[in-house]
Amino acid sequence: MSDQAPTIDPERIEHLIRAEEATFVEQNPRSAELLKRASQALAGGVSCSWHSLEPHPLYGDRGLGSRLWDVDDNERVDMHLGYCVMVVGHAHPKVVEAVRSRIGLGTHFALPVEDTVAVAESLQDRFGLPLWLFVNSGSEATSDAVRIARATTGRDLIVRVEGCYHGSPDSLDFSYWPDLENPDARDRWIAQPHTAGIPSAFGELLRIVPFNDVRAVERVFEQEGDRIAAMILEPVMLNISAVLPEPGYLARLREITQKHGALLIFDEVKTGATIAYGGAVEWSGVTPDLITLAKAIGGGVPVGAVGGSEAAMQVVVDGTMEHEGTFNGNPLSMAAARATLTEVLTRDAYDHLEAMANVLVRGLESAMESRGLPWHVNMIRARGGLQHVPRPVRDFRGYAAQDERVIRLRWLYQVNRGLFEPGSDPWTISVQHTEDDVRRYVENFEAFADAVTA
Ligand SMILES: Cc1ncc(COP(=O)(O)O)c(C=O)c1O
Repeated sequence: MSDQAPTIDPERIEHLIRAEEATFVEQNPRSAELLKRASQALAGGVSCSWHSLEPHPLYGDRGLGSRLWDVDDNERVDMHLGYCVMVVGHAHPKVVEAVRSRIGLGTHFALPVEDTVAVAESLQDRFGLPLWLFVNSGSEATSDAVRIARATTGRDLIVRVEGCYHGSPDSLDFSYWPDLENPDARDRWIAQPHTAGIPSAFGELLRIVPFNDVRAVERVFEQEGDRIAAMILEPVMLNISAVLPEPGYLARLREITQKHGALLIFDEVKTGATIAYGGAVEWSGVTPDLITLAKAIGGGVPVGAVGGSEAAMQVVVDGTMEHEGTFNGNPLSMAAARATLTEVLTRDAYDHLEAMANVLVRGLESAMESRGLPWHVNMIRARGGLQHVPRPVRDFRGYAAQDERVIRLRWLYQVNRGLFEPGSDPWTISVQHTEDDVRRYVENFEAFADAVTA
């Protein structure tokens, strides 16, 4: 590496962004047309605020293996993978077969089916927690986990980490991307609603701490430990690139929560079944009281789950807390999840993911090193992300110090050159990705790195 990091000229970044945006518009005329039609019927023209890409959304058409095609028939290597849902890759034959067989047998009964039991057994085996319940999304899973913790402890407060995302429940949707210009959020760690419409009263039940800061957690528990029902966090932060827990951090949280009679909840909606066969529980060796799952465990069909210790799940077992939901354990979801967990994301699948991750990380590190770029890449099997700052990021504020325009330009370089990634979220690779697929990421990254350092 050269002695001095290259200077990145903001004006040049803006100029490059404008040029790439023009290319994007040229490449995607049918998506632009469809947006006009969609805006007349679909609120905001998309089905989730985060699908509103700039300069305009893309509309998908089909996926196969590692590839995704949009309505303009642009073929891209898909390393977005639907926010990491598709670790099985698109249209995996085993998942297709499972869904096809189930559809002909009926898809909803308000009764559990044998697949429901088999999926619970598979999750038991993977995560080492004895009891499971099913919901339909990550947001439902985190909402139920918090309710279980409150029902179990008879306490109301929840400790939550700044910059972790736990979905849309009003009880948790605070301080994911706090506005650090606001001195209350910046200096006093007041819970800040993530979006309009969330009563601030919910925030009064939250205590906000930074990631990787044991002392902050100790302080909160010293002050109000007897009022705290649970601490919830993403054990690896995967909503702001990939931020790793420092050695001993998760184990210490286990001790602190236990000492104060509160539950520890790992939100594994993104880590579960992606970073290891047994998610962050296996990867870290720390077993919480509750974990939440969704996304990848369904192989592309909506599903969520909460797993817990017998003590934590007792309120559900004895009916103290009702577990509600028309579509919970829906047979179609369960068929897809069973095939995903028992036939596709088997232990050896993680060897393949690790091998592909190694190719990608080596390629990116070498590209950064040869250009003197002091950036970082973290990757654990299927999930990884880049941090465009000189020191590895250890919490939200470190992440927020990055130049967002650099990330935007990286995204445009990828999407215009046949690769779809999320941008500030980490990317994902699937069991169907090959070395050629991940090398495309590296080649595009090299072009981007050359452009920003020129
Ligand atoms: C860690 C985490 N928890 C919960 C959720 C919410 O999941 P869903 O979008 O399925 O409701 C997400 C979504 O990205 C997430 O990343």
